[in-house]
Amino acid sequence: MANLTHLSPIRDHLGRPLKDLRISVMDRCNFRCIYCMPEEKFHSGFNFLKSSERLSFDEILRVTKLFTDLGVSKIRITGGEPLLRVNLTELIGDLSTLKKIEDIALTTNGVLLKKYSEELKACGLNRITVSLDSIDPEQFRKMSGGRGNLETVLEGINAALSVGFKKLKINAVIKRGTNDDQVIEMIDYFKDQSVIIRFIEYMDVGNLNQWKLNETVGSDEIIKKLSQKWQLDPLDKNYEGETAQRYQISGSETEIGLISSVTKPFCGSCTRARLSSDGKLYNCLFASEGKDIRSWVRDGKSDEYIKNELASIWKERRDRYSELRYSEEIDNTDEKVEMYYIGG
Ligand code: GTP
Ligand code: 5AD
Ligand code: SF4
Ligand code: SF4
Repeated sequence: MANLTHLSPIRDHLGRPLKDLRISVMDRCNFRCIYCMPEEKFHSGFNFLKSSERLSFDEILRVTKLFTDLGVSKIRITGGEPLLRVNLTELIGDLSTLKKIEDIALTTNGVLLKKYSEELKACGLNRITVSLDSIDPEQFRKMSGGRGNLETVLEGINAALSVGFKKLKINAVIKRGTNDDQVIEMIDYFKDQSVIIRFIEYMDVGNLNQWKLNETVGSDEIIKKLSQKWQLDPLDKNYEGETAQRYQISGSETEIGLISSVTKPFCGSCTRARLSSDGKLYNCLFASEGKDIRSWVRDGKSDEYIKNELASIWKERRDRYSELRYSEEIDNTDEKVEMYYIGG
């Protein structure tokens, strides 16, 4: 078999290197955010994956190791809610021993952070991002589908800070008419804490949120609003391909990020592969189909075989959905993968 993997990182059809692997470890979540897992659909009778359908830790470790041979050095653990996966810190500990891994981050809704922060720090996790859309208790409760208790999440954030997770990120999806007031409120609340607040443009991800463009608050509009209250100094990107445009509130340590996936798509520098909890590999957050890696792993295929297949998949990659949507080159009718299942 031809060895396709001699150059690392490998590049896709558009020249983009493979650098990040985002691993969803759990399709379940303890929230029912209205734009992600609406309660009407994700009720007690919903068929989530069975445990045996999810990749085991050994399987995730094996696949990740193969990915590192192709260029991956950065991992993000996502869900659903990843902290619902039993013994998650064992997996993170094992991933952190992989030679080429430089950074492991976790995206969580924060509910279980108070319980797990210490273990997460000890196992080798480098960074935490908390998804939090509102600092108003009632609005937060509503947006999380009636499940979220703001106080618990804030305690979780404090626990993570106190065990030494520096520069913790807070990701807020801003939806017009729902929580647009939060761009001011959240900065007011968090600006003296060691956190980075990032506002995300509400996207047409998945098939469930009946997205309308006018519900997205563009980052230019957010900047304009913030600039009436604070002077914002632009900061350089931390790394090539960073999703956020960064700003600092003048005269302070407060960093703010804007993620403009709708109004300024960043597909041109997208180095992210995504693995679902049942082992499907997606080239894009908006993909319709994933490649079934689990079947190779469970059918006894060799490392060399799987690595070559992974390399072929990446080399064939042409996805750039957000750019195409921006230039209106696609219609919006294809079934897309859901965010709760692929993890954002
Ligand atoms: P850092 O490593 O901390 O820079 O994280 P990140 O910004 O790469 O990842 P994060 O999960 O924090 O991304 C925040 C949000 O940006 C996600 O929840 C998505 O809404 C959006 N996002 C991240 N990656 C992509 C992407 O590849 N495409 C699109 N369209 N949106 C993305
Ligand atoms: N647009 C933008 N971000 C979204 N997320 C979920 N759905 C959307 C959407 N439609 C974010 C969550 C969380 C991450 C996993 O993805 O708020 O931060
Ligand atoms: Fe859960 Fe995150 Fe989806 Fe909310 S956005 S339901 S916290 S996975
Ligand atoms: Fe990457 Fe797809 Fe997002 Fe573009 S839309 S940045 S290709 S995940």
